[in-house]
Order: sequence, then C-alpha cells, then structure tokens
Amino acid sequence: MKVKKLILGYYNVNCYIVSAENACFIVDPGADFKSIDSYIIGEKLKPEFILNTHGHYDHIGAVPQVMQKYDIPFYIDAEDEFIITDPDKNFSSIFAGNPLSLTTYKLLDNKDISYFREEKDIRIYKMPGHTPGSIIIESGPYLFTGDLLFRGGAGRTDLIGGDSKSLKSSLKKLKQLDSSLTIMPGHGANSSLEYEISNNYYLSSDFLEGEDTWL
Ligand SMILES: [Fe+2]
Repeated sequence: MKVKKLILGYYNVNCYIVSAENACFIVDPGADFKSIDSYIIGEKLKPEFILNTHGHYDHIGAVPQVMQKYDIPFYIDAEDEFIITDPDKNFSSIFAGNPLSLTTYKLLDNKDISYFREEKDIRIYKMPGHTPGSIIIESGPYLFTGDLLFRGGAGRTDLIGGDSKSLKSSLKKLKQLDSSLTIMPGHGANSSLEYEISNNYYLSSDFLEGEDTWL
C-alpha cells in the first residue's frame, strides 16, 4: 500500500491518494483537481471511489471534477449530508466564491462499520464533534483523522453542527485504537497515535476527564 499526500488549496487541506497495485481511492479531494489528476495519471492509477472524512468545503472542493472524470462514487457519512448539499453550511458560499452543493453521493450509514473491510482493508469509525458526520478511516498502518485530530491539536467545534462533548467522546474512542497507527490528519504534519497520546493535550486525561471544552 502506498499513500500520497497532496496539500491543496487556500486552507492547505491534506488530500490522500491511497493505492495498492494500480487501484486507488481518494480521501478528501479538497481543491486543485489538476494536482490530484496529474498524480493519478503519472502513476497510472485507476480511482475506485472518494471517501471523505467530513463535508466542509476545504475537503470537498474537487469532488465534482474527480467524480466526473473518473465516474466513481463519493462516500460520506449520512450526518454530513446537510453540509455538502448547502453552500452556506459547507462554507463554499462564504469563502470560495463558488457555491458548492453536491447532489450525487453515497451515504455511509452512520455507525462504525466495516463497510469496505472485506475487500479493501478499510475500517471506518464514526467520530462526531467537528461535524456530526465526521469519520476517521483506518487502512493498513494508517489512520486518516480528518479534522478530529491533528499533530498537537484537535478539531474546532464552533462551526455548524460542531459539538464539544461529542468531540471529547470521539477523542476517547480514538485513544483506544492501536497506538502504532500513523496519524494522517486533515491539515498539517503526520504523526503517530503513540506520540499524540504522550504529547497532545487533547488526548490527555486532564482534558478528556476534565470540564474543559474545545472550541
Ligand atoms: Fe473541517
């Protein structure tokens, strides 16, 4: 398995292209279709689907172009449907000058699932907080954490649908996963779960068991 990280768009979103042999799936194609496409072409990959950690604009900006060119499905958790279909809620109307309302997608069914587990070695964990439909994705040694967990940080909860109590529960759940997993966040540098458990305040007992909430 090979993972290519592309840092895209004004918000420097991390888009990941996960490939095995010449098949691949794309996590969070947030902007700059040309960069995504030229990597796919250069590596002679065949995209099979898009799988998003959540529905904010900086993570979905290039979804329509990728879907159109490669005729592949776009998967996102059902609880972020209200975000991807509403330019005000996904912030494309405010920040992008290019209102984006996605109309073609496949909804994941709102729980921890082994949706692709059998064939694809992909496990999805439901992790609400940053948005109601936030998920994280485990595949091989990698854990794609979207905007739930960053190196040294955690996702904000002051945007539409954000909830700090849910975020805290999700971080507790994340802390139970295999600590040898490599963290591939939605923004910023990679890390390991082991490092974050030791160094990230938002995974500490002080934060997780305390009254503090994250905005
Ligand atoms: Fe986000």
